[in-house]
Order: sequence, then C-alpha cells, then structure tokens
Amino acid sequence: MRGSEKTYKIITFGCQMNEHDSENIGGMLEAAGYAEADSPDVADVVVMNTCSVREHADKRFFGMLGQFKKRKEEDPDFIMCVCGCMPQQPRIIREIREHFAWTDIVFGTQTIGDFPELLRKRIETGKKQFSIVDNSQEIPEEQGAKRLYKFKALINITYGCNNFCTYCIVPYTRGREKSRTIEDVVKEARALADDGVVEVMLLGQNVNSFRDPNGGSFADLIREINDIPGIRRIRFMTSHPKDISPELIACYRDCDKLCKQIHLPVQSGSDRILKRMNRHYDRERYLGVVKDLRRVCPDIAISTDIIVGFPGETEEDFRDTLSLVDQVGYDSAFTFIYSKREGTPAAMFPDQVPEDVKHARLIELNEHINAGALRKNQTYVGKTYEVLCEGRSTKNDGAWAGRTDDFKLVNFQGGRDVTGRMVDVEITSAKTFSLDGRLV
Ligand code: 5AD
Ligand code: SF4
Repeated sequence: MRGSEKTYKIITFGCQMNEHDSENIGGMLEAAGYAEADSPDVADVVVMNTCSVREHADKRFFGMLGQFKKRKEEDPDFIMCVCGCMPQQPRIIREIREHFAWTDIVFGTQTIGDFPELLRKRIETGKKQFSIVDNSQEIPEEQGAKRLYKFKALINITYGCNNFCTYCIVPYTRGREKSRTIEDVVKEARALADDGVVEVMLLGQNVNSFRDPNGGSFADLIREINDIPGIRRIRFMTSHPKDISPELIACYRDCDKLCKQIHLPVQSGSDRILKRMNRHYDRERYLGVVKDLRRVCPDIAISTDIIVGFPGETEEDFRDTLSLVDQVGYDSAFTFIYSKREGTPAAMFPDQVPEDVKHARLIELNEHINAGALRKNQTYVGKTYEVLCEGRSTKNDGAWAGRTDDFKLVNFQGGRDVTGRMVDVEITSAKTFSLDGRLV
C-alpha cells in the first residue's frame, strides 16, 4: 500500500465467475488510482460482490452490509458498493432502497463495465448510483483484471445461462447466455501468456454450449488455445452433461495441454428427480458420457455437484444418487442441501422435503463421497506428479501448495520458493481433500 493513496477492498462471495468479476473490478479501481487495503475496515471504497445461490444468502448478505452502516455514518466520504447476483433480483433492490439507502453504488452482473463511471459520478456529485440492466447490453471486452495469481488466470467465455434448471436462480440473475468470439478469447489468452500465465481456466455457467457468434464450437476454441505458446494447462468449468459433444471428448485425446480433469455436475442419480430438475439427461446418458470420457482419457479426474432433498426426493431417489456416486467414483464433489430460491419453479413445488431428512441425507452422501475420494487419492502414493506451485501451503508450516494436472491439491516439503513453476513432487501420503508430498 502506498502512502496517501485512496484504498479499496473487495469482498467476494460465490463461484469463480464472481471471483473473476472481482479481479476485473480490482483492475478498474487500480486504473483509477486506488491501492488495495489490508482490510475493509480501513478502505475508502468497499465492494461487496454477492452470490445468491446458497442457503440463507439474503440474510447473510444484509447482515454483512448492515455492518458498514456505522462506518458510513462516521465518514460520509466512505463509499459502499454492492454488486453481483444479489442486486439482480428486484426484491433485493427494493430492500436496499428501503432499508440500506445509505449504500452508494449498486451495479449488476451485466453492468460491471459501468463501475468506473458510477464511481466517478458518485465522487463528483455525491449522489447514489444504481446501474442494473437485464440482458440488454453487448458484452464489453474486458481489460486489465487485477489477477489473484501471476501464473494462472480465469477467462470468461460465456455469460449467463439458458437452462432454467428448476431449482436455480442463475438464469434470472445472470440473464441469457451469450458467448464471446473465439478471436477475442484467443487474443486475451495470448496476452496472458505474454504476461507469464501458464494455466488458463475457461469460465461459463455452461461452457459446452459456447458458440462463437461468427461460428465455431467450444472444441474449436480449446484447439486454438492449445496452440498458444507459453500456455501449458487448459481447464474449464462448468460443463452441463447434456451438452458434452464427441468433438469435446476428442480434445482430451488430441490436445496435450487440456488437463485430465472435468467438473460434471450430476445433481441427482434419480431419473425422476432429474426430470423434475429440468436437466435434460437421465442417469444412463450421464454414465455414458463418463464412459466416453474414460475411454479417451482413462485417468481423467471427475468432480461433480449434487443436491439432496430436492422437492419430492424419496428415500429411493436418494439411494439412486448414492449408487451413482459409487458407480462413477468421483474425485471430489460439492454437495448442497436443496434451498428454495424465490422465483424459481421448484420453490413452488408442494412436496418439499423436511429439514431433518435433508440434513441426514447430506451427511450420508458426504460419507460416500469422502470415502471414494480417499480411496482414489491413496492410489497416488509413491508416484511422482508434475505440480504447478501456487505458493505457501495454508495447511502446514514451511510447506508449499500446488495442483497436479488432474487438479489434486498437493502440500509438499522442499526448501526453495518455486511459486509459479512446474515441479516434480513425489506423493508420500493421501488425505480426503489433499495429498502430501516432497519435492523431487
Ligand atoms: N439449492 C441447492 N443447491 C443449489 N445449487 C444451485 N441452486 C441450488 C439450490 N436452490 C447448486 C447446484 C449447482 C451449484 C453451483 O449450486 O448443484 O451446480
Ligand atoms: Fe443453474 Fe442449471 Fe444454468 Fe447451472 S445449468 S447455472 S444449475 S440453471
């Protein structure tokens, strides 16, 4: 932090899309002359980048926002900003206007590009600035994100979602799906590679339905990025199982930089529930995709998202989910208790599952997932893997942390700082969520 400069702090909730939006917002603030503060308590500008997917999200959001009221009363020059998925919901905007009217700047997921102008106007006029639109805008080309890491980067390739899974609020908060052009994405990836980035993560709610407005598929995009000198690893998320194409699966065979890893949310193992979720695939089709992936890439690591307690989920439906988990053998999973999101179809379904049943199912599911993950991780012990070191381990003192090609988190011992470099690490022991090792 530099002397008398104005400072900012961004508080980020939710998915990697939000994380990347925060990197872009950080870039805008730095371009406007702000430096990052150590804590929101001392920053001149605080930005809350919000998520509305999780349970009790509203309550938590307003609770945290409320904590800044006193600061605002004491210091009228302090600027409080709210963005992300929360303010995309009209009832949230109403609540902010009625009970949190001291908030200075509010913008949405599709108006991030307006932020520098909103900030300038707020400072010049002292007036509150609200900018929320619903999908009426062209996607502005991004520039100058303040990246969390020097050597790996997130790249948006699609925005929004057209799938309307019946439990999900994202299509309402992030609007209709739009793809960037292959040319723009490749240009961004090249510039990142020139800047020292070796790993790119391509982001979208459903990257598989990426379609260049001028023609070209997601597989075409991967092939082009695979040709960029300097880039050594390509990852993507999230994939919708219904849209995995044979061309994409072939990329795992042909593209040496495409990491042996896929996040493939299944949500449920019951055909009846999948139908009610509006997922457009059944269990057999999902297992078919897994089989096809493993045929071209036998070692591929597969992770997933699963919801328990979706309305109408019976014990038998839940058993179907457990058996699917065992059948696939996931490397890891994000598991969720179904939570009603106002405005989504499933919130109106009459047969909601009692809370205690949902909790018990989550515990049982996690036991299955964790046992499978540990079993898989134990197969790594004694072998050596290439790891991209991300810096100090948060777990054990003196250790470094990084990820393998197939996204395993490795904490390893080794004297010198190898942050940002690919190093060989021998795995010495396995845990449920990570591996331990030593630098070779
Ligand atoms: N309740 C529980 N989990 C949800 N997810 C999305 N909406 C809900 C909801 N209403 C989960 C899904 C999705 C992940 C990002 O969040 O599993 O894949
Ligand atoms: Fe939500 Fe379904 Fe779209 Fe994923 S695909 S963002 S779960 S509506």
